[in-house]
Amino acid sequence: MRIGSIIDGIERMKSNQPAMYVKNPYNEEYVAELLPADEQDVKEAVQNSKDTFHTVMKQMAAHERADILRRAADLLEERSESFAEVIMLEAGKPIRHSRAEIDRSIQVLRFASEKTKHMTGEVLPMDAAVGGSGRKGFVKREPIGVVGAITPFNFPLNLSLHKIAPALAAGNTVVYKPAEKTPVSAYKLVQLLQEAGLPKGVLNLIIGTGQETGVPLTRDDRVQKITFTGSLPVGRSIQQEAGFKKVTLELGSNSPNLIFEDADLDHAVGALVKGAFAFSGQVCISAQRIYVQRTIYETFLDRYVQQTESLNVGNPAEETTDIGPMINENEAKRAHQWIEDAAAKGAIVQTGGSWNKTMLKPTIMTNVTSNMKVTAEEVFAPIVSVIPFETEEEAVSLANDSIYGLQAGVFTTDINRAFRTADQLETGGVWINDISTYRQDNHPYGGVKQSGIGREGVKYALEDMTELKFIGIRLEEE
Ligand code: SIN
Repeated sequence: MRIGSIIDGIERMKSNQPAMYVKNPYNEEYVAELLPADEQDVKEAVQNSKDTFHTVMKQMAAHERADILRRAADLLEERSESFAEVIMLEAGKPIRHSRAEIDRSIQVLRFASEKTKHMTGEVLPMDAAVGGSGRKGFVKREPIGVVGAITPFNFPLNLSLHKIAPALAAGNTVVYKPAEKTPVSAYKLVQLLQEAGLPKGVLNLIIGTGQETGVPLTRDDRVQKITFTGSLPVGRSIQQEAGFKKVTLELGSNSPNLIFEDADLDHAVGALVKGAFAFSGQVCISAQRIYVQRTIYETFLDRYVQQTESLNVGNPAEETTDIGPMINENEAKRAHQWIEDAAAKGAIVQTGGSWNKTMLKPTIMTNVTSNMKVTAEEVFAPIVSVIPFETEEEAVSLANDSIYGLQAGVFTTDINRAFRTADQLETGGVWINDISTYRQDNHPYGGVKQSGIGREGVKYALEDMTELKFIGIRLEEE
């Protein structure tokens, strides 16, 4: 399979850049050859998106946009297995988890379709201001224009839709630059939306490297917003390069989970096995630091290690596989190095720790300190640290001792403690009696501190992809 960028509905089958290849991270089998775009392609895509915004999207009624998104959801449902297979092949995500991503993607399209019809504004009480009597004021939402969507490999379909679906719902056009490691699901998504009735040029796909395509897209003044999910260093440079445009950044985290002595331990242990190791920990809200009250620490740890060791690690194509490969060998090697660094400084590997090519065994570490990379930085790998605490104050203070603040989990049966703790945690979201890793696609999602700027979740993303326009009228005096 050879794939190129799609601009104004036409696939570009020529490239001035060296070809790139997508390989299955588990067995290195060839998945696709890419014909990468360059800066000139990006410029043309942006101009086409700008033109299409004026000639097509500004004319398209809300009910038409809603219908396209609804039809896309229906088509995705019909073809869910083939999309799940692509995610499994290019990202190495276990097939059951790839299917779950498709189910979420269908919901995101449906949420966006529904929201399209509710872009409401307000009528202002103009006589609230002195001199305002006899005037009427209205606030309406308008689309902003061209949205640049730069998306990651870990949820190649759903995190793309978290940007594309609200952008289209709001009436914008999109230049879409997916991760170069997982462009095949992006390519299929663009085709699916076109089949659902999206006119050419409304969603332009740019396949290429960050340097050749992401950077010029971010710098382009014809783009009104960049919405990005990925690492902190890239997010920081996007913020610097973006100039006056709006920016939403959904960046990393080293998510904390607090287990109090009154928690339902069976539930907490099972949930945190998934929460730390699902998709090999390559999830921005993966449970990375687990703080356990000292009185239940040993019991928790024994059971946690035991359940982790029962996970099936192997081929993502198999139905029974829980943990597949990491995205590439460099990432697995980097994560393994972090384990070794921590162990050299006194951390104990309770289970896992071994590495072979892209496979890193689910790893639990104890005796860690807050200056080790495995706790202080975003590990983005199947590595979790379990740390004891004595008091609620200490637990909150340890959890907040981070440059990040995306999502946290708190396990307790004491409702007062649950809300007290939730109020004190410095994160964009807190789940009580669930893992930091849980996300539902309609709640606001985003970080504080260096975890990002802005919020996703269809309603919230849509709002940020519109501008408020005020229209006032001075009525003639009687
Ligand atoms: C992420 O990795 O930021 C997204 C997590 C999710 O959508 O479940």
